[in-house]
Amino acid sequence: RKIRLADYRPPAWMIEQVRLDFDLAPRATRVRARIAFRRNSQAEGARPDLRLDGRRLTFVGASIDGAPLDQQALSFDAEGLTVPAAALPGDSFTWECETEIDPETNTELEGLYLSRNMFCTQCEAEGFRKITYYPDRPDVMAPFTVRIEAAAADYPVLLSNGNPGATGGLPGGRHFAEWHDPHPKPAYLFALVAGELVAHEDRFTTASGREVELRVWVRPGDEDKCAYAMDALKRSMRWDETAYGREYDLDVFQIVAVDDFNMGAMENKGLNIFNSKYVLASPETATDADYERIESIVAHEYFHNWTGNRITCRDWFQLCLKEGLTVFRDQCFTGDERSEPVKRIDDVKLLRARQFREDQGPLAHPVRPEEYIEINNFYTATVYEKGAEVIRMLRTLVGEDGYRKALDLYFERHDGEACTIEQFRQCFEDATGRDLSDFARWWSQAGTPRLSMSEDWDGGTYTLTLRQQTPPTPGQDSKAPLVIPVATGLIGPDGAELVPTRVLELREAEQAFRFEGLPARPVASVLRGFSAPVTLERQLDDATRAFLLAHDIDPFNRWQAGRDYAVAIALRLIAGGTIPNAWAEALGRLLADDSLDPAFRALALELPGEDEMAGEVVTRGGLADPDAIHEALRAMRAHLGGALGEALATLRARMAVTGPYSPDAGAAGRRALANRCLALMLAADTPEAHRAAEAQFDAADNMTDRIAALAVLVHADAPGATPRLDAFLKAWEHDPLVLDKWLTVQATAPLKDAAARVEALTGHSAFEWKNPNRFRALIGSFAVGNAVGFHAADGAGYRLVADWLLRLDPVNPQTTARVAGCFETWRRYEPGRQALMRAELERIAAAPALSRNTREIVERILG
Ligand code: ARG
Ligand code: ZN
Repeated sequence: RKIRLADYRPPAWMIEQVRLDFDLAPRATRVRARIAFRRNSQAEGARPDLRLDGRRLTFVGASIDGAPLDQQALSFDAEGLTVPAAALPGDSFTWECETEIDPETNTELEGLYLSRNMFCTQCEAEGFRKITYYPDRPDVMAPFTVRIEAAAADYPVLLSNGNPGATGGLPGGRHFAEWHDPHPKPAYLFALVAGELVAHEDRFTTASGREVELRVWVRPGDEDKCAYAMDALKRSMRWDETAYGREYDLDVFQIVAVDDFNMGAMENKGLNIFNSKYVLASPETATDADYERIESIVAHEYFHNWTGNRITCRDWFQLCLKEGLTVFRDQCFTGDERSEPVKRIDDVKLLRARQFREDQGPLAHPVRPEEYIEINNFYTATVYEKGAEVIRMLRTLVGEDGYRKALDLYFERHDGEACTIEQFRQCFEDATGRDLSDFARWWSQAGTPRLSMSEDWDGGTYTLTLRQQTPPTPGQDSKAPLVIPVATGLIGPDGAELVPTRVLELREAEQAFRFEGLPARPVASVLRGFSAPVTLERQLDDATRAFLLAHDIDPFNRWQAGRDYAVAIALRLIAGGTIPNAWAEALGRLLADDSLDPAFRALALELPGEDEMAGEVVTRGGLADPDAIHEALRAMRAHLGGALGEALATLRARMAVTGPYSPDAGAAGRRALANRCLALMLAADTPEAHRAAEAQFDAADNMTDRIAALAVLVHADAPGATPRLDAFLKAWEHDPLVLDKWLTVQATAPLKDAAARVEALTGHSAFEWKNPNRFRALIGSFAVGNAVGFHAADGAGYRLVADWLLRLDPVNPQTTARVAGCFETWRRYEPGRQALMRAELERIAAAPALSRNTREIVERILG
């Protein structure tokens, strides 16, 4: 059944107050709900029925205003219950209901479930209806009071949203705790945690003087791995005050780390619940990338307090209202805390790898979709990452001041409300006086626009003609032009900036922009900072690419020039050409330039991935051959390793970080560059390179250097790999998050027999397949991080992944559907692979009891 944006109707009944009583037990938890309903004054006509969502609940009893209801008076179905209008006493009444639920068998990890003996919840988007009957939609907001009762020995810590209330002991070894959240919230922000937990504590004083207790709750033994998350939290709280004028609004802010979690983290009001992977960090167990991700996810969830919680979404079609905006906010935070250009390049890499891939395939949908079958399938790169790009473009168009004014107005006008994209856009129009009706198409039109350009030079006047065109996407055959901000600068022949960056606003299908009075023909630097999420088609010769790589003052475009250069060479190799020496020379010069941030140089040295190359081939009208792509990229790495051998070894030594490990951006950048050098050295396959990698693994005092060395050895199938894999396993047997790395490093090895190796690993005790982190670490990373293995010509890779998807689906449909996205690119490949991938998709689709989640994804992929 399809849900449509056009069918939205305001709720018939609003809620004034919610009181929940939990009596926790693994197999039989009792939930008593007391809900004060009031008829929505906006709705007219006769008094409507009371419709409540509910799934997999055992109904115990219900009453209205204290009068017990006969079960016959209610009509139950698989999705909930209806109280007929005739049974309702008036326009306001109190509904009480008792249900029983079974958290222990809840393997879907949605609603209330158990993770390693700890009760926890995940309610977004529609998990609350698995706890009690409720109008489970984000435009019904209410203050919550919660009382939790449980066995004191097994569940000493009892948490929920808001501020703490009464606690105490009870007969029979039980105890209770109460929580009150005064801020009205939709049910998807409800949270409950109970278990044996310890807190890493700190405090924060807000700008206006509110004292906030901060706690990061983890399992005993993990206390020493919380300091970084706590530090990131305090910096996030300060940043939101400075950058947006937003303060925290409760007496406590808590984060809980849980081991079984379908996604990264969840912004429940005052009680964020995190996948433990994005909380726990120590130098020995977490990489620089892990630290950075912890910082950005802590910030993201904290920022939701204003963009998501205080102002929430009217319905799930508006998901990008909170997610796109909050991703944009966390991106800016990381840019401010670390390096802005490096963060921008990282974000664009992710956007292209995930969102462009989605936008250019069968799963393409608008940033604000208009229909869905399963909302959990719409927590996508398009909603999140392209959603953030849309906010970034808005800021570019209205300027920093206009942006701040618009956001101030948004917070002032809509605090405490459930909003739409239109209301958000209206704030920008009212605050800046700009008409944004054309711009709004970015939210409704799917697909990645293609931008092409032509140039003209005539006696001091340079003319840049830009054209846009968006290919059709499923359900949207014809596309209208978008408003595209194209940040452009002109560079003189000597490499100096001739015309500084200006934002060209492309509004038509084709438009010319003139620059007059120039002393010489310039080289244009177009789409600086990646000012819009488009693909830029530009024919350039190697010399101009090398020129931009050497001279562009825009770091993003400088990196992009190198990327374009590498893509062009890879395409030439695939077509039977050769590698020009000028390429390694240009990169060699960049490498040696110590005025450049090491992190930036590390990015510039990285080659495009296999998946990205497949996209490039298809954009040019071809079909991808995974073997040819892999061979081209392998040859390029070997070429660089050979041509730059000495320079790489020297630079690697110069980048060595001394002193105790610190995850700061500077040290992380040096390690990234050193490890990039190491990988290229190994690509040349010299004995020195092998010895260097082995020595680095053996001597490393941190996970970043250790896993980097292990990865290059394992991926090269080097003789030094096996003993080190064994040593690694032995050292970290007890730490599941580290075992994930051990699984992933093997799952991503580009070896001919990769599928067989992964198959063997599925029998290893480290692979607890029902845990989403383990499943993604082995099966997920093989499917999207191992082109050689996944696309093996005999189909063994596809078969392996499909087998495991079929196995996980009845247990955890959300994670299954997510990983099934690995098949979305099937039409990009040569006919043999297409047929094999399609056969696996059809095999999955034919499974009799396939979940709604997986069925929707697989059927859309098949088209
Ligand atoms: N709101 C969470 C976040 O972005 C993610 C929730 C994802 N929920 C889901 N059902 N997929 O921070
Ligand atoms: Zn979010």
